[in-house]
Amino acid sequence: MRIIIAKDYEELSARAAMIVAGQVCLKPNSVLGLATGSTPLLMYEKLVEMHRTVGLDFSEAISFNLDEYLGLPPEDEHSYHWYMHRNFFRHININPENIHIPDGMAKDVERECGEYDRAIHAAGGIDLQVLGIGTNGHIGFNEPDIKFEATTHKVKLDQETVTANSRFFADPAEVPRYAISMGIKTIMHAKRILLLANGETKAGAIYKTLYRGITPETPASILQLHQDVTVIVEESAAKYIQKNIA
Ligand code: PGA
Repeated sequence: MRIIIAKDYEELSARAAMIVAGQVCLKPNSVLGLATGSTPLLMYEKLVEMHRTVGLDFSEAISFNLDEYLGLPPEDEHSYHWYMHRNFFRHININPENIHIPDGMAKDVERECGEYDRAIHAAGGIDLQVLGIGTNGHIGFNEPDIKFEATTHKVKLDQETVTANSRFFADPAEVPRYAISMGIKTIMHAKRILLLANGETKAGAIYKTLYRGITPETPASILQLHQDVTVIVEESAAKYIQKNIA
C-alpha cells in the first residue's frame, strides 16, 4: 500500500487527477470505477481542465460508478447520475454509452444489481477504482456490518451516513435511506485502487483502515489485502498516521 500525505485538498486533488490521467493515457480504453461525494470534486475539475488544455482523451474510457441512491431519478439534483453529469461527464468526451451508474429507479433491484456486476465483468473488470471513505469507514455504500457484502447489492444506509449526507439536502428528511452499491468483492477485483481522504472527520476511519484489524465493521480495512492501493490522505485526515509513524 502506498500512502501519500498531501499538504491540503488542492494537492490531494492534483495527485489523484494525475493518477487517473496516467491510467487513461497509458490505456485509453480503461475501465474506471468512479466515486461521488465532496472529496473527488476537485479531482474531477482538474481532469476536466486536462481534457480542455492538453486533450486528455476519454473517448474510449468506460466508467462504472460505485453507487446510487434508491428512489431518486437521474434528473434529481441529489442523485449520483446528476452529480456525475454535472461535475464530470458533460465536460469531457466520454461516450455516453460507456457510462454506467446503478439505476436508482429500478423496479427489480436484485436484477439491476446482477446486471451491473455482469456488465463490469463483460467490460473486463475495473482497471482503476477511485474511492472516498465515510467517517464510519464505508467504501461505496458498503456500511459497517458483521460481514462483507460481495457483489452489487441493496443497502440500508447507516444513520451516520444519512446524517453526513444530509448537508447536501435542504430537508434532512429527504435523504434517501436506501441505495445500490457495488460490493466489496467487486471493488477488490479492481486492478488498482485509489483511496482519497480529506478532512479531520476522516482521521479515525483512515487510522482504522490502515493500522487495525481487517473487519467488516470498518469496510475499508479490507483494502489492506489488495495488492495495488494508493491512499492519498490530506494532512488533517492523516493526523493519526503521523502519530503512528512517530
Ligand atoms: P465525502 O464522502 O467525499 O462527501 O466525504 C465520502 C464517502 O462517504 O464515501
